[in-house]
Amino acid sequence: MVVAYFNKKKDNRYVFGFMQSVIFSGNSNLSLAKEIAGEAKLPLGKVEIIRFADSECRVRIEEDVEGKDVFIIQSLSNPVDENLMEFLLLGDAVKRGEARKVIAVLPYHGYARQDRLHRTGESLSAHVVAKLIESVGYDKLVTVELHNEAILGFFEIPVTHVSGLSVFQTEVEKIKDEVVVITPDAGALKRAQKFAEHLDLPLALIEKKRDLDRPHTILSMRVVGEVKDKTAIIVDDVIVTGGTLVNAAYLLKEKGARKVIAVATHADFVGGADKILQDSPLDAVWVTDSIIIPPDRKFPKLKVFSIAATIASGIKKMIK
Ligand code: R5P
Repeated sequence: MVVAYFNKKKDNRYVFGFMQSVIFSGNSNLSLAKEIAGEAKLPLGKVEIIRFADSECRVRIEEDVEGKDVFIIQSLSNPVDENLMEFLLLGDAVKRGEARKVIAVLPYHGYARQDRLHRTGESLSAHVVAKLIESVGYDKLVTVELHNEAILGFFEIPVTHVSGLSVFQTEVEKIKDEVVVITPDAGALKRAQKFAEHLDLPLALIEKKRDLDRPHTILSMRVVGEVKDKTAIIVDDVIVTGGTLVNAAYLLKEKGARKVIAVATHADFVGGADKILQDSPLDAVWVTDSIIIPPDRKFPKLKVFSIAATIASGIKKMIK
């Protein structure tokens, strides 16, 4: 996309030129960045990202970005802090190259689950990350399937929040059984509700109680709603250990669900999540490629849908 523009130079002169948009990507999900660039019909700029022996990161953009609108794509997935730092340094490098606008594109927004103070003495980590993003000079943010939309309020810059769930819609519509959408915990209610309303499906709720002193530990779960003889579709934002979905699947099958399908926008699998999910009562696990899944973590019940077109359409609206 090339647009004519007047660029204000450092000496306050205005120069007529052509504004181009360009995408840069960190290392966290290069294949998705390439796909997005293809969908958005934008070039993927060259960057050099190296790690020193002490693990410090150094980035250098190898293109002229002066006067351009620059999109920087990075999934803040595991290793979260490494990927976050790369992304912040890329933003700074582009800003120093006098880009017209620097737009952050986060297919997965790490730290988003730390959106409130669960216990006294904790940091408000999602807020810290928002302030870091703004501090390097990002002008806008495109982010996908946040754990909680409330964190949009942590940003002063404009944020486009894209839902990843639309990519599963056609597949859900193919199911011949009676379908019920399940929210795996009260926090995920709004997301599952939207999904169910959009597809005109009924909704049931699982009440999940976590142990706040032990990460990834669930204390109890209970189903509220009718699931007997239905295909239950559990809708979540992210899978990490798989514990939430596997426990939910056991419970739903116990309550008479005929099939249980897990649908989550992000898959940041850790430990033996792949094996736990494959060996569970889940009949299928559907995720997007917002986070790269290494081949050795893929399993037969897993189906990965591309989110590139969804993100690219958000980008295209900005370069129109
Ligand atoms: C929690 O509130 C989130 O929405 C996910 O349900 C959770 O983070 C999934 O984690 P895990 O796969 O470890 O249960």
